[in-house]
Amino acid sequence: MKLFEPGRIGSLELRNRLVRSATAEQMADEAGRPEPPMIEMYTALARGGVGLIITGHAYVHPTGKAHPAMTGVYDDALIPALQALSEAVHREGGKVVMQINHAGRQTSAEVIGQRPLAPSPVARAKGSPRPQEMTEGQIEEIIRAFGLAAGRAQAAGFDGVQIHAAHGYLINQFNSPAANWRRDRWGKNAASRLRFFEQVAAAVRDEVGDDYPVLTKLGIQDFVRDGMTLYDGLEIVRHLAEWGIDAVEISGGIGSANVRKNILRPGDEAYFLSQARMARRATDLPILVVGGIRSREVMERILEEGTADFISMSRPFIREPDLPKRLQAGQDKATCVSCNSCWPPPGEYGIKCRNEG
Ligand SMILES: Cc1cc2nc3c(=O)[nH]c(=O)nc-3n(C[C@H](O)[C@H](O)[C@H](O)COP(=O)(O)O)c2cc1C
Repeated sequence: MKLFEPGRIGSLELRNRLVRSATAEQMADEAGRPEPPMIEMYTALARGGVGLIITGHAYVHPTGKAHPAMTGVYDDALIPALQALSEAVHREGGKVVMQINHAGRQTSAEVIGQRPLAPSPVARAKGSPRPQEMTEGQIEEIIRAFGLAAGRAQAAGFDGVQIHAAHGYLINQFNSPAANWRRDRWGKNAASRLRFFEQVAAAVRDEVGDDYPVLTKLGIQDFVRDGMTLYDGLEIVRHLAEWGIDAVEISGGIGSANVRKNILRPGDEAYFLSQARMARRATDLPILVVGGIRSREVMERILEEGTADFISMSRPFIREPDLPKRLQAGQDKATCVSCNSCWPPPGEYGIKCRNEG
């Protein structure tokens, strides 16, 4: 089975083709330090046999915190607490990459203590407050913050970083004509809109050196009015190798389009597969595909046809952290029904499967 053949992303060797996609744990303290239940969750994941774990998004700058209990990587003082996490994974023979992110307008003044920043003062939804347009100085500061955050992940023993450029967060906001209305060099045309992402990638690469694995999760298409089309997304895919990126995970959607509910039969699965097929023709980089993949048959088919090199999943691993071992032992699909009850309701702690079935 191809699923259990070793794979490689840049200098990173992986024991199989299964990836735990970034999943916000919501198990960090006020400063962003992982708490003990988070370490336990990652220990169980590593023990369960997954090839690569990508952490939930970690904020690179205090203004980039998306929600309470989010993990932080914005300060050197966080390194020891983050190191406890990478060490826990390594002890179980796993590999772990940190996803680094800035929320941009997808946060609130309650969470960050000031008006959220964004490329342009465009609200995320009708009725939401308008974010503050970033100054040139703020743009430079956040680019630097991504680089420094990657350096901290490296110092904390992570096996790589993944730049979050999907799901409507800051990089996606710069890429998207629906959120980036700037008329300067950061937005006056399609090429300018990509400058922020390109410079983030450059800052990260500068900080971590040539051999350190740098991945990205790309929102290849926004599915909102006036947003990025698939063709805009493919233009980004074409640039990633020259920007120093080692692998791309294909996702999409501003808002909740990236976490579809009720994936019940094989026909509902792999909802970004057609976009990944197009990406395959646009780059030679290793491709990870995410989005509703649940059954071994679909996973094998994707790998056999060569569309993707890695199968990435989020929700199934919340319910079954040992899913790789189960699949290898003959279980034919994840038991996750994609009901989205894993996200904690207000006042509850951390992700977990809240489906009793
Ligand atoms: C509780 C929860 C938290 C998530 N957090 C992140 C995140 O931090 N970063 C990210 O890129 N995607 C995040 N996602 C999206 C998933 O990584 C994935 O792209 C999406 O759920 C579709 O994959 P799935 O059908 O296998 O769950 C999250 C999804 C869920 C359900």
